[in-house]
Amino acid sequence: MTGPESEGSQVRRAVCPGSFDPITNGHLDIIARASRLYDEVYVAVMINKSKKGLFEIDERIELIREVTAEYGNVIVEAFHGLLVDYCKQRDIPAIVKGLRAVSDFDYELQMAQMNMGLTGVETLFVPTNPTYSFLSSSLVKEVAAWGGDVSHLVPPQVLGALNERLRKA
Ligand code: PNS
Repeated sequence: MTGPESEGSQVRRAVCPGSFDPITNGHLDIIARASRLYDEVYVAVMINKSKKGLFEIDERIELIREVTAEYGNVIVEAFHGLLVDYCKQRDIPAIVKGLRAVSDFDYELQMAQMNMGLTGVETLFVPTNPTYSFLSSSLVKEVAAWGGDVSHLVPPQVLGALNERLRKA
């Protein structure tokens, strides 16, 4: 195939979805690895109106944009709705998820199979870097709230935002 149309259709896209409240080094590791495998990586901050986060959606997006800027092929957006609809609207055939431990697997498998059944979108699981196998946004927030050191678990921009937010809380 030749010509601009065929070139356009060969752009390989994937999405890394999540709440990212806030983004951690574990998330960043998965996004960085996806960005080396795909032409365009979409980071979708999925809006869950029943869950009040520590950071507003716009703040999460801003932090993710800052820490992924160097990759050059990462697009960060918010979305309210089903992940499969987000993928359909942007012609994204693959969801990339990190698997930290066996405990993640049950629910992730259910979601992957549900999403596949809904629209045929694939889910690819990437084994989390063992350095981050215990890491979650919730734990980071809890440890930081009690004054624990999380500087090795989040990018410096996120550490600054966390300290500022928790000082005000
Ligand atoms: O970071 P999280 O909170 O573990 O991410 C979970 C997320 C946002 C990826 C998942 O809840 C999701 O895909 N939500 C979007 C709504 C949706 O599509 N639900 C059906 C999943 S089968």
